[in-house]
Amino acid sequence: MLRLLLALLLFASGGCSDSPLSDAADSQTAPAVDPAPTSTAGETPAEREPSTQPAPAATPEAEAEAEVQGEPEAERPRYITRRIHDPNGIGKFYMGREIAHVMGYGPGGAGVRWLERPQREEEEQLTKLVEALKLKPGMAVADIGAGSGVLTIPIAEKVDPGVVYAVDVQEEMLSVLGKKLEQLGIENVKTVLGTVQSPKLEPASLDLALMVDVYHEFSFPYEMMLELSQAMKPGGRVVFVEYRREDPKVRRMIKLVHTMTEAQVKREMSPPEFGLKWKETLDVLPVQHIIVFEKTGS
Ligand SMILES: C[S@@+](CC[C@H](N)C(=O)[O-])C[C@H]1O[C@@H](n2cnc3c(N)ncnc32)[C@H](O)[C@@H]1O
Repeated sequence: MLRLLLALLLFASGGCSDSPLSDAADSQTAPAVDPAPTSTAGETPAEREPSTQPAPAATPEAEAEAEVQGEPEAERPRYITRRIHDPNGIGKFYMGREIAHVMGYGPGGAGVRWLERPQREEEEQLTKLVEALKLKPGMAVADIGAGSGVLTIPIAEKVDPGVVYAVDVQEEMLSVLGKKLEQLGIENVKTVLGTVQSPKLEPASLDLALMVDVYHEFSFPYEMMLELSQAMKPGGRVVFVEYRREDPKVRRMIKLVHTMTEAQVKREMSPPEFGLKWKETLDVLPVQHIIVFEKTGS
């Protein structure tokens, strides 16, 4: 509990401004409040007086979507930028979704401490997640946005003598991971410094690509997914683990731009040039979807 409070205080005090926690959960000073309650105590929505208030303003995401509505899909700009947007996002929208800030390494490695917080296993059930991936020895796996390697290491143990490519755009994260690998004597992980547009992986080289709490941060999601899909072997699986936006409990905990609906992930994987077919969505985790696509072709 003390550790949780310390971590939360660190983020609330600006230690890591890109924490995915909602402001209510972040501050810890007030109980989490549903931003859009559907009823007040003692009355049902139907019993309330008709509202005289003007309709609430559309969200930045809805406005970005409205901006291109009516234009044929092929002629829409891939990305839209808007001046007024969610402060936790970068003001750039893709298919009606605002992209989140990248979670930084942070002052003194605060971002790493957040990823490695001891209570994460209880909150996100990472062991169950790794089990759900059905990994086998010999597989080639990419952990895209690997961070400090919280998932990379258990995956490397499962696929040994196969390989894990730990891809990230932050050198500091890969350096933390590199030191851990050395200490643990793990030799089947290759760290890869990617760019925001490219995971820098060989074509048709992967059995599985995993993105845990990462995809919503890609500042060039189309370009990343085009290259990543080309790096998949036919039949290879592309797996997204994203906080469930559909779930009001998750919406109270996590900042909106750090969450995704299943429908939105499917929409963003629909460009035919990706050659990705939705396979299944596993809702075995407490707060995240596991959304699985398969690379088509033979
Ligand atoms: C919230 S952290 C998650 C880290 C790790 N997956 C975990 O669950 O512990 C997101 C990571 O994705 C990385 N990232 C963001 N955009 C990326 C991109 N285009 N390519 C590779 N990594 C990226 C960030 O640098 C950061 O380390």
